[in-house]
Amino acid sequence: MTLNIIQKKILRLKEEKEAAILAHYYQPIEIQKVADYLGDSLELSRIAKEKVPNDIIIFAGVRFMAETASILNQDKRVLISHPESLCPMAAYLDAGMVKSYREKYPNSQVITYVNSTAAVKAESDLCCTSSNAVKIVKRAFEKEKSKIILFGPDANLADFVEQETKINLIKMPENGNCVVHSQVTKEDLLRVKQEHPDAMILVHPECVRAVRELADIVGSTAQMYKFVKESPKSVKEFIIGTEIGLLERMMEDIPEKKYYLASDKLVCYNMKKHTIEMLEHVLNNLDDNNYEVKVPKNIAKRAIVPLERMLEYS
Ligand code: 13P
Ligand code: SF4
Repeated sequence: MTLNIIQKKILRLKEEKEAAILAHYYQPIEIQKVADYLGDSLELSRIAKEKVPNDIIIFAGVRFMAETASILNQDKRVLISHPESLCPMAAYLDAGMVKSYREKYPNSQVITYVNSTAAVKAESDLCCTSSNAVKIVKRAFEKEKSKIILFGPDANLADFVEQETKINLIKMPENGNCVVHSQVTKEDLLRVKQEHPDAMILVHPECVRAVRELADIVGSTAQMYKFVKESPKSVKEFIIGTEIGLLERMMEDIPEKKYYLASDKLVCYNMKKHTIEMLEHVLNNLDDNNYEVKVPKNIAKRAIVPLERMLEYS
């Protein structure tokens, strides 16, 4: 692996300062290359909770991911390498809305996608990610008394879970979506498939139903990665229906296969706000509170409950 000067400096600095860098698959590839831990949102939550020995965690990902790490590690210092890296999906649901839904459906369970604020998690019974949503909803439906499940904020993920489980979900709200994945159209996918008819189609569950229905595999970023890694030699080409960072990761790690992005809309600008220069800056300024991600104690104390239940059930 060839590294540039800043990347080498980062490796040295994080050793010196005993900081761990956690990065999501959607991060720019030069950041992925200097991360101690790389993963999808479920893996990163688990890693943050169970694997990182360091007292300082620098998160390269959107804010809800860093908040999750902070909630699960309330005694550690968690920093984000770009404070304005927000997931727009989280803005579809706030804590007041969850309370109103609960009033309307008094005997319900609230399951929230981790792409949500800490305050929303604090109002939830369970959290889920794209890789365990089906499992979590099934478990909640089978093991808990209440069969009314309120699910938010992603209506496309909810639709996918409903299709897979045949369990009806009440969506909070009806129209929550990912500004990146929901833009991909059936036509985008058909165009790429026409050019590469032998390629298998892998898409994220945040895509709309018409896109998911064309896919061979619907899964989280880590599930897609695993599928490609374990695919037989005879399967050589893949159309990737998620953010371009995952495709770049696959090109690095599994170069013997060919990859085509399902649509040129698959760039998450919030994930791409992080730069290698910012990462170096944060490592040089670990005491700067502008980069600290701290969830108020009263919220963190409640938000940890649905997150820990999620980790236990998945
Ligand atoms: P993963 O659960 O696959 O990491 O996805 C997170 C996300 O933000 C998808 O857009
Ligand atoms: Fe949020 Fe979509 Fe970006 Fe994922 S890809 S972080 S859901 S905006």
